[in-house]
Amino acid sequence: MKFEKRILCIGAGFVGGPTAAMIACKCPRYRVTVVDTNRERIAQWNSATLPVYEPGLDEIVRKTRGRNLFFDTDIPKGIRESEIIFVCVNTPTKTFGAGAGLAADLQFWEKTARQILEHARSPKIVVEKSTFPVKTALAMERILNSRAGGIHFDVLSNPEFLAEGTAVRDMEFPDRVLIGSRDTEQGYRARDVLVALYANWVPRERIITSNIWSSELSKLAANLFLAQRVSTINAVSAICEKTEADVTEVSKIVGMDGRIGARFLNASIGFGGSCFKKDILNLVYLCRHEGLPEVADYFEAVVRINEYQKERFVLNMLEAMFNTLAGKRICLFGFAFKADTSDTRESPAIHVARRLLEEKAEVVVTDPRALDNAKADLRGLDGKIRFVQDPYRAAQGCQAIAVMTEWGLYRGLDYEKIYKRMVRPAFIFDGRNILDHRRCHAIGFNVYPLGRPALTHFK
Ligand code: NAD
Ligand code: UGA
Repeated sequence: MKFEKRILCIGAGFVGGPTAAMIACKCPRYRVTVVDTNRERIAQWNSATLPVYEPGLDEIVRKTRGRNLFFDTDIPKGIRESEIIFVCVNTPTKTFGAGAGLAADLQFWEKTARQILEHARSPKIVVEKSTFPVKTALAMERILNSRAGGIHFDVLSNPEFLAEGTAVRDMEFPDRVLIGSRDTEQGYRARDVLVALYANWVPRERIITSNIWSSELSKLAANLFLAQRVSTINAVSAICEKTEADVTEVSKIVGMDGRIGARFLNASIGFGGSCFKKDILNLVYLCRHEGLPEVADYFEAVVRINEYQKERFVLNMLEAMFNTLAGKRICLFGFAFKADTSDTRESPAIHVARRLLEEKAEVVVTDPRALDNAKADLRGLDGKIRFVQDPYRAAQGCQAIAVMTEWGLYRGLDYEKIYKRMVRPAFIFDGRNILDHRRCHAIGFNVYPLGRPALTHFK
């Protein structure tokens, strides 16, 4: 079959794989290839068990794979044969050298840019899909257009706003698609090609175009705003616990103000995920670099409150359980950083598990999807840790349950049955406020919600 366009996604991760699958699904006349240096990952994308768990993703991959969606390890061939290249490689926080712990590690995209330059035989549109520091496009242009008399490359910024667990829906019905380009005739021409691609399924009014630096910065700012809401409500949860106010009520009341809005105001043990922390720290680094220390400190506080909330949760457990956790068996309900994903990157459960082990507690981890990742995250830690798929068996013989992830599964369990199998006094620490606290209390549990008065049986 002759395809109208050939598209390449470099990086077969949480963003590259689903992005490619959605384009292939919505644009049957385009051939979409995903490449990665990680052979195992590509093999998984070509197998029955995809490397990423996302509701609805299996179905689109099954429909498109082998038709107009291909997963491959031949990066040079992919580059040669494509007209549009989405760069979807990882941009983690740097762990070494200048800016360690704050700045983005740009070695992966730079390697990609150099590979594109080496193997391209015709002009290409190179699209920044990953989240990059502002002005990355400039560096990319300089590398790509570094050969005198060489091929011309246009660089666009098209950041991804999908959230894990809802990636398919977010890509199919996005709030907005953002395309940043250079303010030149050439830049507008490249931008219009990408606009036409998305217009295959996204209403035109939802496709926003902007200057390329606004686009890069907006992605970082959007994550900052989202994370800031979580840190704000989590800080409010701390004051609720001191004043007998109820954070669920406060959140509802505040969120009913149309200017504030109701979403993203659920108190929790802290935000996790691969991006919020790294993107905010990236902004903090940029601000310090640009001589804006006050702004940097303000942004950094969002991350500091998040660390505080995770630790506060552990200290609350310690205090409630008579100031010692040594030898006590505690079950973590959930390990993923949020529901409907197997991803555990930066999951607050990692901090909680590590700290409980430091307090010499025995930890039992249960999660419907994330146990393999949990095992990898906790590998090598001192102490007793078990991983049990079935929540009833996991809670057996435990003195406490701590809810880490808001999986729907945990709302519907038979807590009477669970209570009977636990050591008394039995505790529930609901780090997501998802359980029926009154009912659990009536069963016999001492219940410690977040930001709400505890329900105990102690005099
Ligand atoms: P990921 O780690 O899951 O995937 C990145 C992939 O890129 C890996 O498989 C890696 O092997 C591959 N890679 C690295 N260097 C390569 C190279 N030179 N050639 C080919 N492949 C290479 O990361 P992710 O979660 O998909 O995130 C990618 C980017 O998207 C990040 O910048 C992230 O901030 C951003 N983002 C992520 C999400 C999300 O929900 N995960 C959402 C929006 C934006
Ligand atoms: C987030 C953004 O929502 C996406 O728009 C963005 O594209 C993505 O980061 C990214 O750049 O990687 P994601 O991290 O997948 O998506 O998931 P979120 O739904 O944003 O949740 C992040 C964390 O905040 C989770 O740990 C979640 O449990 C927590 N959270 C969220 C709360 O604690 N309370 C809330 O009210 C909402």
